[in-house]
Amino acid sequence: MTKNYGELYNVLGWGDPYFAVNAEGHLCARPHGRETMPGQEIDIHSVILKALETPTNGGKSKAQFPMILRFPDVLKNRLDSLHAAFKGAIDSLGYTSRYQGVFPIKVNQNKAVVQDLVAFGYDESYGLEAGSKPELLIAISCLTKAKPGAYLVCNGYKDADYIALALSARAMGLNTIIVLEMEEELDIVIDQYEKLKLKLGDKVDFEPVIGVRAKLLTKIPGHYGSTAGKHGKFGLLAERIYAVAKKLKEGGRLHWLKLLHFHVGSMIPTTDIVYNAASEAAGIYCELVNTWGAEMTTLDCGGGLGVDYDGTRSGSSDMSVAYGIEQYASSIVQAVRLKCAYQGVAHPVLCTESGRAMASHHSMIILEALSAIQEPQDEDTSEQLLSKIQDLSSKHPGRATAANGGGAFEGIYSHAAELKKHGIEMYKLGKKLSKRIVGDANPIYNYHMNLSVFSLVPDFWGIKQLFPMMPVSRLNEKPGLNGTLVDITCDSDGKIEKFISGGETLPLHPLGPEHGGYYVAALLSGAYQEALSCKHNLFSGPTLVRVKSNGKDGGFDIVSVDLGPTAEEVIATMRYNVEEDISNVIQELAKTKEVWETVEPLMTKGLTTMPYLNEYEPPKTIT
Ligand SMILES: Cc1ncc(COP(=O)(O)O)c(C=O)c1O
Repeated sequence: MTKNYGELYNVLGWGDPYFAVNAEGHLCARPHGRETMPGQEIDIHSVILKALETPTNGGKSKAQFPMILRFPDVLKNRLDSLHAAFKGAIDSLGYTSRYQGVFPIKVNQNKAVVQDLVAFGYDESYGLEAGSKPELLIAISCLTKAKPGAYLVCNGYKDADYIALALSARAMGLNTIIVLEMEEELDIVIDQYEKLKLKLGDKVDFEPVIGVRAKLLTKIPGHYGSTAGKHGKFGLLAERIYAVAKKLKEGGRLHWLKLLHFHVGSMIPTTDIVYNAASEAAGIYCELVNTWGAEMTTLDCGGGLGVDYDGTRSGSSDMSVAYGIEQYASSIVQAVRLKCAYQGVAHPVLCTESGRAMASHHSMIILEALSAIQEPQDEDTSEQLLSKIQDLSSKHPGRATAANGGGAFEGIYSHAAELKKHGIEMYKLGKKLSKRIVGDANPIYNYHMNLSVFSLVPDFWGIKQLFPMMPVSRLNEKPGLNGTLVDITCDSDGKIEKFISGGETLPLHPLGPEHGGYYVAALLSGAYQEALSCKHNLFSGPTLVRVKSNGKDGGFDIVSVDLGPTAEEVIATMRYNVEEDISNVIQELAKTKEVWETVEPLMTKGLTTMPYLNEYEPPKTIT
């Protein structure tokens, strides 16, 4: 039997049920998750080769690396799973209302993603959430294809224009709900409604429907935990929500208030936090109904449904969560059901704004290796590094006294600063030592990849988010080298040397012309990365390849191949007029016809292709 090295990357953990390694030793996608029939797996290596042969839209150019492969079938399966999970929990727990969710488009605003989700969720009245004016414009246009009644939830800080646009969307027949992030927004809603009434009269119904975002006391630990709790940036504490209800009641507008929203943060690690947050919010919801007489209809539980990036199902790391979609749904349904039963309140429609869990799995980034070069070892041996660590740890900063640090505050502050400095030094030395030990046992190779970390996996750079990464082929051959992934930006942060295994290297294969191209996939990367992408060095977005299962054995169709932004498009975002400021100036500089005849095709090619490396020799390993 051929060997399968997929387990080195824990593909059975984070990949289930969408990714696996096939008998050829290739990464493959299971487009319908658990419903994928034997033989329907899509071989990723074949997809890459076929995408390279497919003309890009317009038929003029060839696809370039890096690429994102998008699988709309996977997106559909994620959304279907969410609906099935809530339906299952609602039926089994005797909940008497329904689930009606929205996709927060900040997670991935791409036209294909948003339009697909609206289409896939039609029967369930799936809607959209917007957090800014441009997102609202996208949401309005995409929701024209949704089932009437689908929610358009307007979150985020709002000015008069945002609110006027949201009210106009109601006038145009969309089920728009303006969620107040701050009390002051209510005055703008009232003002804009009065102004719009003067223009539109009372023939059209666009009376505001509003929600309030609750700032809950339930918090999540870790990186994403700063969103909730007393000191969170967003929303209103319970007593301020009741003040809003009071103000609405006094103005005869309490019937506007229909929804209570909360969002405790992304990647909620465990279901007890999901349960506690839903229960706390349901308590406020019931109080609005029972004490204030609000005609509430909907509890919007925000985002936070997590993704198990490292496949460990752990509730104690930012890279994983300890539950699946079903447990998440039943925690919310159970919490709200119990609170409502206790308070004698009718069950609300349950909404969630699950973003990451919908979008992550459906796309993967394909990176092409350019070369692999052995990394020189640190000049210090591991013994020398160890002795430096011991030396530093014996100089642990002592507690400052009033005598050496000034007053009590200054003393404590300077002690804290010393402790921090000392900790950072220790961390740096510890990191060097672990690298030295790994390198002594097995040299480290820097795989230079056609990649900008800042453009493609900005969360790796910005918040140390890890994505599962693995070679796309040769997985029945032992990946015997320890690799780091180095990008082509001129920035030392443009390097990936932390992986979901917890290690600083990824097992990779030696490169060589006899093997052809070598591709590494960054998976579960469909959420946030495209939206957060930065243009460092003027590298930008990847080629987008849309791949659909055609239902036959191993069959797939490449539906479209869209080149990423070309150099001239990226340059234009920096406010250059490419013709006037670049092409004409270079032509003038060329002076003679001969020079211009050489420069012109180079310049044109440079401007009309993606900024990444193009047409180079097959990659090799250099020791
Ligand atoms: C208000 C709100 N809703 C929904 C989301 C989506 O969260 P997630 O992607 O964790 O589901 C976010 C993201 O942070 C958010 O701020």
